[in-house]
Amino acid sequence: MTSKRAAPPEAKKDEAVELPTPVNPQTRMVTVYIMGKRAVVPEHATIMRAIEYTGVQIIRGAGCREGFCGACGTLYRLPGDYRIHTGLACTTLVKDGMSLTQIPAVPMEKAIYDLEQIEATVDTIKKYYPAIFRCVSCNTCTKTCPQGLQVMDYVNAAMRGDIAEVMDLSFDCVSCGLCALRCPAEIVQHKVGILCRRLYGRYLRKESRELDVRIDEIRNGVYDAEYAEMMAMAKEALSEQYYARDIEA
Ligand code: SF4
Ligand code: SF4
Ligand code: FES
Repeated sequence: MTSKRAAPPEAKKDEAVELPTPVNPQTRMVTVYIMGKRAVVPEHATIMRAIEYTGVQIIRGAGCREGFCGACGTLYRLPGDYRIHTGLACTTLVKDGMSLTQIPAVPMEKAIYDLEQIEATVDTIKKYYPAIFRCVSCNTCTKTCPQGLQVMDYVNAAMRGDIAEVMDLSFDCVSCGLCALRCPAEIVQHKVGILCRRLYGRYLRKESRELDVRIDEIRNGVYDAEYAEMMAMAKEALSEQYYARDIEA
């Protein structure tokens, strides 16, 4: 996941990683243990920032840095607490005494299928992910999920062949793989979620006139000028516009 930085990075701007920055002397520092090594880092740092603060460059296990891509799954324990906690390194703040390991990738097998050649039925789920029927309903996956998803419920829905329910319950999954990592039945829940969302999108979704209209507009170049304008914008201005956008509730 990580490698000690030997020299200042000469990465492209978008790939640049912040070097350990001098902190304000007033900043409270906390002690954490990063993969067994003690480090003193600023309070209020995310786990990802804390790792980088120590001079380690994350070359696997970081992507969006905003809680969307699921690349930075992390396990940690806190002092006096017997439980293993999970979180995304880019959005979870350090705590004093935290002992953590960031997981760069959770190894797992991904089923290969041609969406045009399969049916939206429980038999399809069973064929590609038969392990789901080994679920012992322990609910560990739900307790593990940093997105707060009802993971066990969507696994149960998959067993019933309720693809729409799986789509709905797994929609905000970021594929961090932490649920699969902790599942005693060795199920790859998020891959089942992806299969069902694809099946739903291809075979079960209701026709949307609004979507058809929008696709026609895109094909007819209605937004070409707007795209060109955005592509020419500076990163800061683009970022400002992104965060100021209207978000449908
Ligand atoms: S962790 Fe695995 S066995 Fe337990 S409820 Fe979730 S899917 Fe089922
Ligand atoms: S369902 Fe699993 S893979 Fe998806 S966000 Fe939750 S823990 Fe991560
Ligand atoms: S880096 Fe993308 S979710 Fe953390």
